[in-house]
Amino acid sequence: MPLVSMRQLLDEAAKGGYGVGAFNVNDMEQIQAIMAAARETKSPVIVQASRGARAFAEDLYLFKLIQAAAELNPDIPIAMHQDHGNSFETCKSAIELGYTSVMMDGSLKADGKTPSTFEENVEVTRKVVDFAHERGVTVEGEIGVLGGVEDGHGAGGSGLDHITDPDQAVEFAERTGVDALAIAIGTSHGAYKFTKKPDGSVLKMDVLIAIHKRLPNTHLVMHGSSSVPKDLQDVVNKYGGKLKETWGVPVEEIQLGIRNGVRKINVDTDNRLAITGAIRKVFWETPEKFDPRDYLKPAREAMQKVVALRMTQFGQAGHAGDYAPISIAEIAKGYADGSLTTQPLVAAK
Ligand code: 13P
Repeated sequence: MPLVSMRQLLDEAAKGGYGVGAFNVNDMEQIQAIMAAARETKSPVIVQASRGARAFAEDLYLFKLIQAAAELNPDIPIAMHQDHGNSFETCKSAIELGYTSVMMDGSLKADGKTPSTFEENVEVTRKVVDFAHERGVTVEGEIGVLGGVEDGHGAGGSGLDHITDPDQAVEFAERTGVDALAIAIGTSHGAYKFTKKPDGSVLKMDVLIAIHKRLPNTHLVMHGSSSVPKDLQDVVNKYGGKLKETWGVPVEEIQLGIRNGVRKINVDTDNRLAITGAIRKVFWETPEKFDPRDYLKPAREAMQKVVALRMTQFGQAGHAGDYAPISIAEIAKGYADGSLTTQPLVAAK
């Protein structure tokens, strides 16, 4: 089937009370791993590419691979999403390529490093929403700033530096009309999120719940949501890696989020760890091998396993066939006639 609107995937997830994993890709093997997991678990899925991924793979290669995935998997709804767009131009170029969803991360300036002002964020996000909705494309915005750096994008520092203010989240959602809202609750990109199993002092699920109470109809997005499980760390280290001890976001916290309005969950690091561990194992155990397929195949299988597990844990498994995809042209009409415009009904304080 053609690529699907992310808005439709998230609206359906909200109806069904589940979350949808958004998995980052850079190459063919990662796309194949995600699609194999989606087929195995019968899941709708969001595939996403950062600016770094688009540059690494070259836009056209990556986009044609996604089109191939859609063609080869007619029963799986796939939304193709730009992760962390840094400017109107980045989002526009993704939309013109055929992405069905973009993130305008206006929480940072266009350099992808410096936190922006609230007004700057509203202005650039609103501009992207107007352009995208006219074309039936979904928009995710971000309020508050995540910690860490991914593909050169991020303010760095701790996830606690710029936690989302629930009042600002409400104003931001109302003024921009975004379809989905990424919030900062203490997570960060990459493997080094927490120095011990996170509790409420560092992972602010209370802030997420407060935002959901105020914006019950806005799809919330959790970034930096790899769980960085010890077994994946151990494989990397067993075969010569040097990862320091670290903790990610426990799956049960993500599930608490899903019960409180989280519909999109971003996962990249767990897959990177699975791939690297599998490749290291082959290199370590059979150093005489040099055919890339000898290590890319186990790498692809290791990623499929992680993705399939997350699809089951997030609840999207089994939902691929629940609904008929609406065309992007129909979605554009919905935005134009107001039936799809995000109306963040604000609950009492
Ligand atoms: P992780 O580094 O936790 O996988 O987060 C990925 C992400 O949020 C991409 O936007």
